[in-house]
Amino acid sequence: MRDVEDMQYAGEVETPEIDDTPAYGQGSTMKARIKKIEWEADGINSYFLTTLDGQDMPAFEPGAHVDVQLKPGLTRSYSLVNDPKERRYYEIAVHHAIDSRGGSRHIHEVWRVGEIVEISAPKNNFPMNEDAAHTVLIAGGIGVTPMLPMIARLEDLGKSWELHYVAATPDRAAYVDRIAAFPNAKIVFDGIEGGAKLDLAGLSESAPGDAHLYCCGPGGMLDAFVALNKGRPSENVHIEYFSADTEIATDGGYALELTRSGKTITVAEGETMLDALLTAGVDIGFACSEGVCGTCQVKVLDGVPDHRDHFLTDEEKAANTSVMVCCSGSCSSKLVLDI
Ligand code: FES
Repeated sequence: MRDVEDMQYAGEVETPEIDDTPAYGQGSTMKARIKKIEWEADGINSYFLTTLDGQDMPAFEPGAHVDVQLKPGLTRSYSLVNDPKERRYYEIAVHHAIDSRGGSRHIHEVWRVGEIVEISAPKNNFPMNEDAAHTVLIAGGIGVTPMLPMIARLEDLGKSWELHYVAATPDRAAYVDRIAAFPNAKIVFDGIEGGAKLDLAGLSESAPGDAHLYCCGPGGMLDAFVALNKGRPSENVHIEYFSADTEIATDGGYALELTRSGKTITVAEGETMLDALLTAGVDIGFACSEGVCGTCQVKVLDGVPDHRDHFLTDEEKAANTSVMVCCSGSCSSKLVLDI
């Protein structure tokens, strides 16, 4: 969230086909109205979403995101930016990526005030430990979005925290005004003359041993952050990808045995496990299609997945008890899945 930017979509931009039936939808989705759009920085707009009937939005925890459905089968995930105490709206920020595959471009070009969109209930893959003696928040670019509700909660709790936020230039840095109000928030710009790099190594080294550290930003930043904090307890080190350079497995040549539906299907060369499942009519949720959001996680009963995602921990991957079907493949000739 999290601004899992521009995930999944490779087609043309289309206007969402959404009716205007009552605000709270089936299951875990709801309809929301775009109440306000604000410019935050170059290429970054914030969108304020409200219920249709004036009720409060559902509660959420810091670090949470919502999946925004742009049309059937096309979903993007965005971190909730507002203070969790503010229940009148959800605020999300959308960075219009230059290399957009459709999601952010769609929102920037198509979404208008007053329109109705469909969103999931809040999900939290980046929860904050509120008992930490000290919290270190590290954000790169649009990765600052999940940090804002975290800061709000930490302030409410009177907790010790610090934020380190790096953006390329002041023009491209969102939410600087809100962040700059806190003396324990540091902002650096690494794309301007006289700017500075974020000292990830120094930050990791100087953080107290019992601190909880959170990082959200580009893949390279997260990889470095994880490597630098290998010596800390894994439960104290938290990351969230907003995009990934996932090498998606499309080798195919293996079978999927689906125990609940009783189907056995073959994943052909050139397709993903998710492609094969959808083609076979298996109803499976997905959002990012690049192994970062966790939506497509499926339980593995037998076989060895070829894990390609950034969602499961190393321990979870080694256990081979679940697989992210959007991007992973199989090392064995067959995977038995609990679907
Ligand atoms: S759809 Fe996001 S991890 Fe697979």
